[in-house]
Amino acid sequence: MIILSISRAINLNYKRLEKKWIKYKETSEESISILEGNKVNEIIQESDIAIEVNDLTKSFGSGENRVDAVKELSLKVRKGEIFGFLGPNGAGKTTSLKMMVGLLEPNRGNVKIFGMNPKDGNKNQLKRLIGIIPQEISLYQELTVQENLWFIADAYRIEKGVAKKRIDELIKAMGLEDKRKALAKNLSGGLRRRLNLIMGLVHDPQLILCDEPTPGLDPQSRVVVWDYIRNLPKKGKTVILTTHHMEEADRLSDRVAIIDHGEILVLDRPSLLKASIGEGDLVEFTFTKRDSETLTQITEVLKQFNSGTNVEDVFVTGDKIVLRALNIVPRLSRIMNYLSEKGAEIENMAIRNTTLEDVFISLTGRALRD
Ligand SMILES: Nc1ncnc2c1ncn2[C@@H]1O[C@H](COP(=O)(O)OP(=O)(O)OP(=O)(O)O)[C@@H](O)[C@H]1O
Ligand SMILES: [Mg+2]
Repeated sequence: MIILSISRAINLNYKRLEKKWIKYKETSEESISILEGNKVNEIIQESDIAIEVNDLTKSFGSGENRVDAVKELSLKVRKGEIFGFLGPNGAGKTTSLKMMVGLLEPNRGNVKIFGMNPKDGNKNQLKRLIGIIPQEISLYQELTVQENLWFIADAYRIEKGVAKKRIDELIKAMGLEDKRKALAKNLSGGLRRRLNLIMGLVHDPQLILCDEPTPGLDPQSRVVVWDYIRNLPKKGKTVILTTHHMEEADRLSDRVAIIDHGEILVLDRPSLLKASIGEGDLVEFTFTKRDSETLTQITEVLKQFNSGTNVEDVFVTGDKIVLRALNIVPRLSRIMNYLSEKGAEIENMAIRNTTLEDVFISLTGRALRD
């Protein structure tokens, strides 16, 4: 195919046309994806698609109070991949997920899951194939940990022996062995979150939709959950997750859709998204004075300090200024002297790699948490 060979030659080419992103990408499976506005058209074999959504649109309220939560969302998720939606609060992640599984009626658009349309009377079959892990923790408060899980097993009429084995495995995977007999209402927030996660997995679903897997978890528990999710594709599962945690999206997802104001801004593998904003090390400066006016002034000063220093980009994130430059380390002392001459007092400085948050900032001018 001509397009394929051109695409292979250029490998990866991003072009920003007005406000639309048009992307040509070749993946190892020799598919091409073209992203235009909120439409992601991918050539993926029909039999490889776990879920396909077309034109999903949802708004709430009317008149001045109208919120366009999701705008014409179209995408395909491959079987066996972990697909992440990364976006700030209110970006439309939960609304997208709910429409995908039929928990929320879209204003427009349709969904196909494993080739089936939920509207065609396949609901019961699909219910067994889909596992939903909601953002709001949903447990039976007066039941114990194991009773909560058995409740689900009974609801799905899972054979006792199979259910016992599965429940034991899930309890062990989440480190809940000591809490088997604790009432859900007496669990700590982190343990409740872990139980919430496995409640959606008792019936061994093929497609798992996880809305924010780790809020409220301490770093150690987060890693336990991350490892568990990361291994799900090895068991043949497909996972769609939402998060506003850039590291979570990066570590877990095979592909990430960065979403803001109900629209996908970019969609690709995390490594390619990060590469798309440029090469170089990032140096993060914290200054003693960090009101927004001062930060803007220092940013301008740094932008002017370009000659011979390979400074590629300077931007503000939160109360820090980030500078991206090639081979920065030997040039740091010059930059620091220059800042000091200009009266900017550095409080802290750190060199780090590009993150998905940097990608989000480059697209929107805002930090994920803003
Ligand atoms: N039932 C509802 N009624 C009115 N507005 C809603 C409703 N559900 C969502 N919204 C609005 O739609 C937008 C998208 O909300 P959504 O919950 O999908 O965002 P999100 O990306 O999941 O955010 P978060 O990271 O906070 O969970 C927000 O502006 C939200 O206020
Ligand atoms: Mg949400």
